[in-house]
Amino acid sequence: MSIAGKLLVDVHTHVYLPRYTSLLRSRSTVPFIRSSTTPEGLPDDRLLILDHEPSGGRPVGPQYWDRDEKLKFMDKHNIDVSIVSTANPWLDFLPASQAHTLASELNNDLEEYCSTGPSTTDHKIKRLYGFGLLPLVPEITTSALLDIVHQIGQLPHLRGLIMGTRGIGKGLDDPALDPVWGAIEKAGLVVFLHPHYGVDASAWGDSVDNGHVLPLALGFPFETTTAATRLILSGVFDKFPALRLLLAHSGGALPVLSSRLASCIDHDPIVASRLKHDARYYIGKLYLDAVAYGPEELGYASEALSRAARYEHGSSVTGATDRSVGSKRMLFGTDHPFFPPLSASEKWASVTENLDAIGAVQGWAEEDKEGVRGGNAISLFNLTR
Ligand code: URA
Ligand code: ZN
Repeated sequence: MSIAGKLLVDVHTHVYLPRYTSLLRSRSTVPFIRSSTTPEGLPDDRLLILDHEPSGGRPVGPQYWDRDEKLKFMDKHNIDVSIVSTANPWLDFLPASQAHTLASELNNDLEEYCSTGPSTTDHKIKRLYGFGLLPLVPEITTSALLDIVHQIGQLPHLRGLIMGTRGIGKGLDDPALDPVWGAIEKAGLVVFLHPHYGVDASAWGDSVDNGHVLPLALGFPFETTTAATRLILSGVFDKFPALRLLLAHSGGALPVLSSRLASCIDHDPIVASRLKHDARYYIGKLYLDAVAYGPEELGYASEALSRAARYEHGSSVTGATDRSVGSKRMLFGTDHPFFPPLSASEKWASVTENLDAIGAVQGWAEEDKEGVRGGNAISLFNLTR
């Protein structure tokens, strides 16, 4: 068991389940896995999932699909519990009927992956839980989506679902998704909103080969920022106030842009009277992973979350900007198996940097840090069984 007997829980950690990996191997256009060999005759499998995938794709191996590799990684970094999600691009590229069938099969596969895995050392809970998948593709029927929300709600080790930003083709602010948000809220599932598409690749230029840096460092968080903002603007939190939305990569740029967003809403004749609350109130309802790699960023994000109460219309609360309040909505993550070290190293910097960042946030008490490392996840995902 990790730090001071408290559980370390990773809420942002991915898998391509074997059934999904086979699908990627069967394809020859994005998304796919290309198998070849190096000049020395060694296997050289590459993952090509992004449109305009830079640099011939990324190396891919058993860390992406083998449960033992996930557990070895967890042991190496003293991670007690992982809430595992299928990595992008999920089912986005499939026709509706295939996406529906595969969602159901992959949800069952993930339940088995978790339920047949080990328990924590105190034997109280399992070490693996999961986020299920919805077949969010154009032409899917609402009843198919509701069917899968129901399935996920019934699988005991799935505690939420991961989704991208496209919805059923028109984004997440599409009113056609209202019944789905309602069903997710009712089932008490956490929505993990994760990017895949980035922003228009022409923004990256083509004079210099910057590898994956621009799409991953900027494109991913900008995409999350836009999708979450559109959701807020659509009034989803007024309609479904108990919806629990966890944003990848600490919410991208949303925390730092939240007051600008509020001001733009207030000055816009079309939007100004649409929402029940100031935009900062809705931002305070979000959950953010703590995958930001720096204490300043985590500290600021927690501050942006903390001040929501001040912006509840009719609220008499005036203070509540201390970072401790917001820290309760932030949760440790690794993004494994992405961002492996480039050269042999005992631990992965992508993990230790995030842990060090949590430990160094100004204004978080030790109790807040413990919450971000695991206590908050235990409450959010009800990890008592
Ligand atoms: N790269 C991806 O494609 N997905 C992630 O989740 C992280 C990095
Ligand atoms: Zn991720």
